Amino acid sequence: MNIGLRVGIMGFFLIGSVTYGGTVPKPPKMTPELIQKGMAVYTTNCLSCHGEKGDGNGPAGAYMNPKPRNFGEGKFKAGGKPEQLFKTVTSGLSGTAMAPFGHLPEEDRWAVIYYVTDAFIKKKK
Ligand code: HEC
Repeated sequence: MNIGLRVGIMGFFLIGSVTYGGTVPKPPKMTPELIQKGMAVYTTNCLSCHGEKGDGNGPAGAYMNPKPRNFGEGKFKAGGKPEQLFKTVTSGLSGTAMAPFGHLPEEDRWAVIYYVTDAFIKKKK
């Protein structure tokens, strides 16, 4: 194999890992304040698709295929643990309307994950 091809393949893997959000930082402590903050982050960034009740019935989500996740079902393609959700929220799910939110401050991403977990995922289980 020539060296150019090898470098090309290495570059591909490097970029691949970066778009997957890289390493996940250590989750902060889940506090009522953080959950409260997450509610505001959710309302601004997620509600239009995932809906007020987290059931995937937001006004913008109605005609999407696949539909936005109904968090209450507790089924996740990429996992429902905070570290896994952090990756999903940071990098999005390619090929779906689930957009990457890596531009949000890290704390906001944890906040919204804790809010979703507390308000939707846990309650219906
Ligand atoms: C533009 C619409 C849209 C917005 C805005 C949006 N999502 Fe999604 N989301 C989707 C869709 C569509 C899916 C389902 C993708 C699938 O089934 O593969 C999804 C799936 C998910 C999942 C499930 C991932 C999995 O592993 O199955 C999580 C968690 C999630 N979204 C969190 C969020 C959070 C948190 C926000 C706000 C920061 C957000 N989403 C904003 C459309 C959106």
